[in-house]
Amino acid sequence: MDERSATDISLHEPGSALPGEKGLNGKTFFVKTFGCQMNVHDSERMSGLLTGSGAVPVGDPAEADIILVNTCTIRDKADQKALSDLGRIRMVRKDGPENILAVTGCMAQREGEEIFRLVPDVDLILGPSQIRNLIPLIETVSSGNSRVNGTLLPNPEMTTPPALRPKGATAFVTVQEGCDKACAYCVVPSTRGAERSRPVREIVREIEMLVQSGYSEVTLLGQNVNGYGKKGDADGAVFSDLLSEVNAVAGLKRIRFTTSHPVDMSQELLEVMANCSRVMPHLHLPVQSGSDAVLARMQRGYTIGQYRTWVSRLREMLPGFSLTTDLIVGFCGETEEEFSRTLDAVEEFQFEGAFSFIYSPRPSTPAFSWGELPPREVSVERLERLQKLVESQSARRNEAQIGKTVEILVEKWDPETRMVIGRTPQFQNVRGVLPLSSADPSLGDLVTVRIEIASKTGLKGACTGRA
Ligand code: SAH
Ligand code: SF4
Ligand code: F3S
Repeated sequence: MDERSATDISLHEPGSALPGEKGLNGKTFFVKTFGCQMNVHDSERMSGLLTGSGAVPVGDPAEADIILVNTCTIRDKADQKALSDLGRIRMVRKDGPENILAVTGCMAQREGEEIFRLVPDVDLILGPSQIRNLIPLIETVSSGNSRVNGTLLPNPEMTTPPALRPKGATAFVTVQEGCDKACAYCVVPSTRGAERSRPVREIVREIEMLVQSGYSEVTLLGQNVNGYGKKGDADGAVFSDLLSEVNAVAGLKRIRFTTSHPVDMSQELLEVMANCSRVMPHLHLPVQSGSDAVLARMQRGYTIGQYRTWVSRLREMLPGFSLTTDLIVGFCGETEEEFSRTLDAVEEFQFEGAFSFIYSPRPSTPAFSWGELPPREVSVERLERLQKLVESQSARRNEAQIGKTVEILVEKWDPETRMVIGRTPQFQNVRGVLPLSSADPSLGDLVTVRIEIASKTGLKGACTGRA
């Protein structure tokens, strides 16, 4: 075990940039990512730090000197996936003491030292709040410390290491990190630390640079993105102010944001969404359950009546807007009656899409010891009923799109099949076939597609023109 305490490791000052030296020149690295969009972007940020230090990315872990497995721990299944991947990677990784296997992300933060026991050849563990220290920590491992636990470092304030993003039309931008809520089932507050927001001008500067590098759409990321700045840590700006500023960035075509929390909704946000043409008419607003009693046990901080008020205002102020959500079934003590309120909520709110999960008890969360779980087969059956309902609603809505013309931002283009792939403003997946007579599109172009076929996963049709 590493003898040095984590505080011996020289840290970068909050807000500092990359280490200037190219200490990893000639090294190769591979990153595997699990979990949410926030984690995908964390991998982009770690890749940015590694390339900034001279390392080059490779697509095969067997060829990499440095391997990062960026984990998620939201449900037990996420842990299992990461551990089985680590098992596979161990078998193929290069031999030699100079090579590094790092486990980063939320599972690393939650498990801490236990990771070294579970996967003995791990050299470094690092939580999501210490990304800025990735390079000094790698250097510490390289200089002879066999195992380094970076998860013990204090949670630093928000920083913005440069990210290595895939080339394309759309880019993630972190605007807020951490979570101050205390949902009884959720590990995120303990893995990502306290909520903190980036200054508006830094975000705007990053987006201007993204536009200059050819990106057309940004997705602003935060665990409670619409609670941005409410602690006064963004020079007094709140989320609606941030959205208006981003809406003014010249050349940017589309703005999305995720994830919003019902408690942090505001009239100002609705107004900005209604008035800013680049802000897309889609809101991901997790409701989790349709039962007030379950919501109270979950410590979500709102009732279905309050959720309903926001949805009614949204539908009134933003005609054609789409609403998606997250749902949990089988939470502690959930009765059939309580579950049926969730089915009612799905019928009532007509979600355009929903991610639904069986509750997974997580160590170190308040609900972990509560027990009273419905029998597994009951939860499985509830999840199936719920998913069937959500799917039948989206199938019906998708069918109603046949014959209509929608506008999509080109995210992928396959010249062989002349197929463009993108999303509508409402976030529906669309595939469109471009006629031979049309010039090839570029990623980030807006094209119109006349919908001919609808399935539960998306829409397909023929491109009819450029916007
Ligand atoms: N910050 C966001 C999303 C966080 S995690 C929010 O508050 O909505 C994404 C989703 O995972 C959650 O919305 C929830 O539906 C689900 N989730 C979180 N913890 C879970 C658990 N222990 N078991 C099952 N689902 C969980
Ligand atoms: Fe988890 Fe709740 Fe925070 Fe979302 S708001 S990250 S569900 S604690
Ligand atoms: Fe995301 Fe998973 Fe962490 S959902 S915040 S990577 S636990």
